[in-house]
Amino acid sequence: MQKHFIGGVIPGSIIAQDVYGSDGILLIKKGSMFREQYIPRFIDAGVQEIFVEENGSMTPETITTIRKSLNIQDVIHDKTRTHAQNQIKKTMLKFKSVSNTDVQKISQIVEDMIEQLLDKKDFVFALSQLRSVDDYTYQHSVNVGVLSLIIGIDLALEQEQLKQLGMGAILHDIGKIMIPEDIIKKPAKLTNEEFREVKKHTEYGYEILIQTDIPEEAARIALHHHEKFDGTGYSRGLRNTKIPLFARIVAVADVYDAMSNDRVYQKRSAPDKVFREITHLGDKHFDTKIMETFARHINIYPTGTGIVLNSGHRGIVLYQNKLYPESPIVRVFLPKDQDYKRLYFDLDLSLNTKWYIIETF
Ligand SMILES: [Fe+2]
Repeated sequence: MQKHFIGGVIPGSIIAQDVYGSDGILLIKKGSMFREQYIPRFIDAGVQEIFVEENGSMTPETITTIRKSLNIQDVIHDKTRTHAQNQIKKTMLKFKSVSNTDVQKISQIVEDMIEQLLDKKDFVFALSQLRSVDDYTYQHSVNVGVLSLIIGIDLALEQEQLKQLGMGAILHDIGKIMIPEDIIKKPAKLTNEEFREVKKHTEYGYEILIQTDIPEEAARIALHHHEKFDGTGYSRGLRNTKIPLFARIVAVADVYDAMSNDRVYQKRSAPDKVFREITHLGDKHFDTKIMETFARHINIYPTGTGIVLNSGHRGIVLYQNKLYPESPIVRVFLPKDQDYKRLYFDLDLSLNTKWYIIETF
């Protein structure tokens, strides 16, 4: 058992003593798993240090070193990603309009993305995990562009269609520049009135884009990306294939990326949980065919993900098994207090079926 400042506790560690707030109220029981999202709650309750079970060789340094050595590659070049993020930031910070010069620049970026994605025939996502909440909107816009293009390529859309899809996907939330910032960045649940205001970003986006040279099909993505397949979405309550194809694609990419990342009001969900939730939304929220196309490219346990096995051991994902996405190859850390000679061992979960992943962190 070791005492740690809560900022230094590895998510996934087992809490070794009950944790009480400064008011004496029990916050969490001994034996629970420590999660990153507990940190603000603990700080609010005046807790600075907690006792956790020893993790043996699994220190924050080991995890960082392993993650670095895994050389996680993005599906598009870093340069293109940074360029795209800066461009969307510039576009969105301008006062309530989009110029045709911006549209041209974004069009060029989308062409680069398509070229790079077509180059990788068989890809699964390895999106950058390093996001800052401040730049969320710009990073999210670029990701939704990339993810939508991946779906579009799988659906064998033509080059011109891919371009329209990519541009509309990157600019899908452009209407948010018309919504007051304090609502967009509110770190809590929105009131009904605020939510009504946020919903208007679809109409605003369409109105802004339709005044530029952008193709109408791309502008319609802004208008319809919150429609749901069962007709319960907005802004028009369209159902089924009445929702334009591009908007159906962007809807999946948008929800997936939003759930996979920290937002101002919500922590990200683990990749396997996002996968399960997304795949349960077919026909209700999403077009099942598009959702299934997308699911083929999702990495349930991306390289670098922290995992907990049914045996209680903790580890980290090293590589995927293409045929068995639920059973990656993992590095398992051994507890220090047992008389093991090794600090860790690598395990192919597809070959050792008595061990499986029960949690991620
Ligand atoms: Fe949106």
